Amino acid sequence: MEAKIVVLPGDGIGPEVTAEALRILEAVAKRGNHSFAYDTQLMGGCSIDRHGVALTGEALAACQASSAVLLGAVGGPKWDDPSAKVRPEQGLLALRKGLGVFANLRPVKVHPALIDSSPLKPERLAGVDILVIRELTGGLYFGQPKGRDVKDGHERAVDTLEYHDFEVQRVVELAFRLANDRKRKVTSVDKANVLESSRLWRQISTSIGKANPGIALDHMLVDTASMRLITSPGSFDVLVTENMFGDILTDEASVLAGSMGMLPSASIGNGGPGLYEPIHGSAPDIAGKGIANPVGTILSAAMLLRHSLGLPAEAAAIEAAVYRTIADGCRTADLGGSLGASRMTDEILKRL
Ligand code: IPM
Ligand code: MG
Repeated sequence: MEAKIVVLPGDGIGPEVTAEALRILEAVAKRGNHSFAYDTQLMGGCSIDRHGVALTGEALAACQASSAVLLGAVGGPKWDDPSAKVRPEQGLLALRKGLGVFANLRPVKVHPALIDSSPLKPERLAGVDILVIRELTGGLYFGQPKGRDVKDGHERAVDTLEYHDFEVQRVVELAFRLANDRKRKVTSVDKANVLESSRLWRQISTSIGKANPGIALDHMLVDTASMRLITSPGSFDVLVTENMFGDILTDEASVLAGSMGMLPSASIGNGGPGLYEPIHGSAPDIAGKGIANPVGTILSAAMLLRHSLGLPAEAAAIEAAVYRTIADGCRTADLGGSLGASRMTDEILKRL
């Protein structure tokens, strides 16, 4: 097959990890006689330096015209001034919105060989296999009004948690579809005891649950969910939640896997190009040293093959190769090892 993949290396370790993921994609392309064309574009701090904005209209248009987008990471201390009007993260939010990728899939699996890398007790971690689905283009990140003003002589800041019924419906329906191929259990996480938006969320997920009697639906308050992710992570299958709750819970859940460097994500919408990125950040402290863990980005590339290019066997082959590489004891620095990003990728390629 032919596909056009836009690559957004971004900032910090982003260029290092995307370069390794491209080596894996090329190996897959060669083996399967696929032809992937790569178009590298700027997004994040690197785009601010060059163009004054985190995402140009041209870069967004290239992403919209692609089969899929592979992203490294954005941000860094250079652009961290809180009073700055342009920020690298704006590029990421504009890209998510511009691609209409309303569902962010963050699978969290614990490799048996990495159980000791997690701060949790091993007996809590056995068999953990969670798919967190974070709503990505609504909620607190995008609700209006948003901003600063002066009210009653005091400076005021406003963010709005806003959801329309259709925004909740499409992401919860996706959670049910994906649960169907898993353990058939959906945990819908909200704060319905306090927030009106959560009461709408619960009302809609309840009716979707009624229409899907083969799948067990649980409602859980977000504070309880944050506790259960630590005390009984094995009890979750698919977890679906609001944008910011999902942002927080996925960082928490990543600790289960031993290192954030391991975890991929896929952001998908209604059939347009998907956006694939590791869940870790730009890690400016180790950027340029060649020691970043490329696994999160490589597994994101596998998700790209599965969800955007319709190549599930190729995706599974990459996942199996990563699994064996870890089982064989290969480790990057974040997991206490000494392999650099390229050497780790060499090991994965050997097993692919
Ligand atoms: C993430 C990140 C982003 C988010 C930031 C960089 C804007 O934390 O992808 O989880 O909050 O969505
Ligand atoms: Mg986050």
